Amino acid sequence: MKAIGIVGSPRKNGNVDRLVQEVLDGAEEAGYEITKYNLNDLSYSGCQACDYCKSHENCKIDDDLSGLLEEIREADAVVFGSPIYFLLFSGQFKLMVDRMYSFIDPGFRSSLAPGKKAVIVTSQGNPDLPALEKAADDFAEVLRFLGFEVAEIIRMENGGAPDAVLERKDLLDKAKSAGLAL
Ligand SMILES: Cc1cc2nc3c(=O)[nH]c(=O)nc-3n(C[C@H](O)[C@H](O)[C@H](O)COP(=O)(O)O)c2cc1C
Repeated sequence: MKAIGIVGSPRKNGNVDRLVQEVLDGAEEAGYEITKYNLNDLSYSGCQACDYCKSHENCKIDDDLSGLLEEIREADAVVFGSPIYFLLFSGQFKLMVDRMYSFIDPGFRSSLAPGKKAVIVTSQGNPDLPALEKAADDFAEVLRFLGFEVAEIIRMENGGAPDAVLERKDLLDKAKSAGLAL
């Protein structure tokens, strides 16, 4: 079984990165082979709306995201992590989501194998957690449309400092448990 983690924050060892890693560590303990990708290390473009993927099984663009899209297709579980930037997920993350359009077939159904599990991780500076929960809730809908089972959403507030999560044993434990339960 394969679990991959995708970090949409440019901050290495920041809050999202650490929480995604914690979920992956739990998954590894549960028997998954794990890999983590930092989107900010990759060079890729957004969807070009060329519809090549509606007559072929893959995205026409050949860049650093091509391999990651294949990894998502093959994974049994995916941990999707993004910070909140101006109320939404980061630009790095959104570019990837648009490229996931290539997982939708001409009949507008998902071409992904059913039964994949997903965990979503978010972090925000705002102390008011419910104020910004829409970003993750909307992305969870996208994942469900693609056939994922969204097993858990882990949300962190007061995440201004990159290492703020180290004081949040509750969230680190929740992330590890989510990975163990995959
Ligand atoms: C460009 C930018 C936009 C941001 N916009 C918001 C926002 O709209 N609401 C919020 O609560 N925090 C916002 N933040 C703060 C981040 O969401 C917060 O620091 C988060 O914990 C970062 O996660 P990380 O440590 O994984 O990078 C923003 C930060 C940046 C750099």
